[in-house]
Amino acid sequence: MARDPGGVVVDKYCAGPFTDVRRETSGAREATYEAPPNIALVKYWGMRDRELGIPFNSSLSVTLDRFRSHTRVRFDPALSRDQVEINGAPAVGGPRDAVVRFLDRVRAESNLRDSATVVSDNNFPTASGLASSASGFAALAGAATRAAGLRWSGRQLSRLARFGSGSASRSVFGGFVEWHAGRKSDGSDCYARPLYPHDHWPELVDVVVLVEGAPVKEVRSAVAMQASVATSPLYSKRLFDVPRRLAAIRAAIGKRDAGRLFPLIMEECDDFRAVCESTRPSLDYLTATSRATLGEVRALNREGGSPIAGYTHDAGAHVHVFTLERHARRVRARLARLSGVRSTLVVRPGPGGHPILPRRSPRRDPNPRRRSR
Ligand code: DP6
Repeated sequence: MARDPGGVVVDKYCAGPFTDVRRETSGAREATYEAPPNIALVKYWGMRDRELGIPFNSSLSVTLDRFRSHTRVRFDPALSRDQVEINGAPAVGGPRDAVVRFLDRVRAESNLRDSATVVSDNNFPTASGLASSASGFAALAGAATRAAGLRWSGRQLSRLARFGSGSASRSVFGGFVEWHAGRKSDGSDCYARPLYPHDHWPELVDVVVLVEGAPVKEVRSAVAMQASVATSPLYSKRLFDVPRRLAAIRAAIGKRDAGRLFPLIMEECDDFRAVCESTRPSLDYLTATSRATLGEVRALNREGGSPIAGYTHDAGAHVHVFTLERHARRVRARLARLSGVRSTLVVRPGPGGHPILPRRSPRRDPNPRRRSR
């Protein structure tokens, strides 16, 4: 049976007394939550219901360590409108609207009318190539529900997070995570579940290859993927193939079988890219350096006679190369010397989202004379 570490962690916090939620006499209530990014080994690309954010196919990802979004939400009856700050600057336009819409969902669920202050920071720069919508909306789901007094399980948070960004439904949990597309038309069976904990396969590492001149994504993935559904001649074949591939990838992870896993994730990534490129107008996310990185991984595998690494990328130019600890130095050195590679980072499977306890205010000294000294 699949272990459920992320669920246990999140559910443990959700069930306990809400020591992380600060309630003030003014009626304001505040909570803080952190969540990590993830990289999909089986991609989510296309929604059968846009309104409800229900994907056509289930997907599978690895939650990454080292990086996180840290988000504080404070519902305050004294505020007249929502205030949103992301990475130290007030959010405006689309990004602000997306957060406000998300807060509206939480308000509707909790019968709360108060406006909120949202302060969110990523400890990774946008240029790191790690998508922040997954970690950002998973952290917002955790912080906003807790501040609103909702005691939600990991599954409920995952179901909510997808309304901000589909991939956020997976960042609620740590380790290896599967997001079930579900069958119901109301989306109630559409949520992510942890498959294996982050320490399930300690040898597995992700060498992230950051390329120079990665184009800024102009169209959100949520929009681009619907163009693929409508125009790519390869899309229906992809939907037919993904369940088999997903089952094989899940099994390879379960058995910690790198020789099986690496070719399968490359096959999946190649299929995803073919769908993007055959979309009209074509979606081309890679640079020449990204393509050279894919070629170098194939060359490394040919030289070794057996697969020692596997690549994947999402809707961007940076490439994630999975390998085993014992090959990581060699793989990294080979990729780092390709022309146009800005840097390489090594990341690993990591834990999922969790609440942050408020910092205790220093206890006041009752003797004012001593305090002034
Ligand atoms: C290719 O759910 O992250 O990364 O929030 O619009 O960026 P946006 O959509 P999002 O799309 C994910 C697309 C993907 C594949 C995946 O992560 O499964």
